Amino acid sequence: MNVLVVGGAGYIGSHCVHALAEGPHRPVVVDNLVYGHKAALPQGIPFYNNNLGNKNAISSILQKESIEAVMHFGAYAYVGESVEDPLKYYINNVAETLYLLEAMQASGVTKFIFSSSCATYGTPDQLPITEETPQKPINPYGQTKLDIEQALKALATQKQLSFVALRYFNAAGASLKHPIGEDHTPETHLIPLVCEVALGKRPHVSIFGTDYPTPDGTCLRDYVHVDDLATAHILALDHLNTPGTQLFINLSTGKPYSVREVIQTVESVSSKRVTTLEAPRRPGDPATLYADPTRAKQILNWQPKHSDLGSIIQSAWSWHAQHPNGFHS
Ligand code: UFG
Repeated sequence: MNVLVVGGAGYIGSHCVHALAEGPHRPVVVDNLVYGHKAALPQGIPFYNNNLGNKNAISSILQKESIEAVMHFGAYAYVGESVEDPLKYYINNVAETLYLLEAMQASGVTKFIFSSSCATYGTPDQLPITEETPQKPINPYGQTKLDIEQALKALATQKQLSFVALRYFNAAGASLKHPIGEDHTPETHLIPLVCEVALGKRPHVSIFGTDYPTPDGTCLRDYVHVDDLATAHILALDHLNTPGTQLFINLSTGKPYSVREVIQTVESVSSKRVTTLEAPRRPGDPATLYADPTRAKQILNWQPKHSDLGSIIQSAWSWHAQHPNGFHS
């Protein structure tokens, strides 16, 4: 299948582009390189430097490249920034995405895979989270993802679209096959920050909250290897043949780890000491997030293969140690 990967030069998008390029699919990438890295792409992949909401440009790419399906990774994803600058998030993540969908409709492209998020659940009343858990986002980032889920539902109900919305839990790790990994500026995610402390690039990592109602007082999260996320996207492509298909699927392992466990695992994988600073809770962080992966197994036949914490951190550590300045190394 010819697949347009929007945001294909970003962290999760680039891992998916590499997976598609292994065949039988043919990826075509659109990315405005605001956060993405061209160096993250395989050689020889058609690449267009465009905004996702540029309807005319996207329509002509869809036609020129005979695109049959679109995967959309092109969202802004800093939760804190979304609280400070909500308009930036509503414009890019909602308005521009709607223009992308409009360009698809105008070109007769009806297959769509959407990067949704655990952030749509907010602070859940019950654990583990399932796809039926009420979605009550607590920040504009999560709300923008939910807004698009609802727009997709309306389009599928009218048989104008088939879609799979994949709700990622904590994407982590680096490619096991290709020289690509996590390179965000600024970096806010726990695992890359801890690796950078182990590498001596940062003096310490802050532990945001040590008084949570969890076994060691720090937050628990459900980390999923980015290669496993990429595999789920490939499997999801096979579920888009019937017009009106609408699927919402959590991508998770069901097994959460604490902030302290992450830090200890980086120390043991890297054989380096990591200096920590106990800091106040970060606003908007739920104590515990983990999800039941049953639906992903039943519908997609997806099972995470590299998402135990040791494998995630081994791959992240290799990437950071070999690329201390990310893609500029
Ligand atoms: N943390 C620290 N210190 C840091 C950074 C993070 O203690 O310097 C903690 C956080 O408080 C949290 C855990 O490490 O408990 C994981 O934090 P990340 O920032 O790595 O990831 P989040 O859980 O905040 O974010 C993820 C996704 C978002 C998504 C969010 C929903 O990356 O896209 O889950 O909660 F919106």
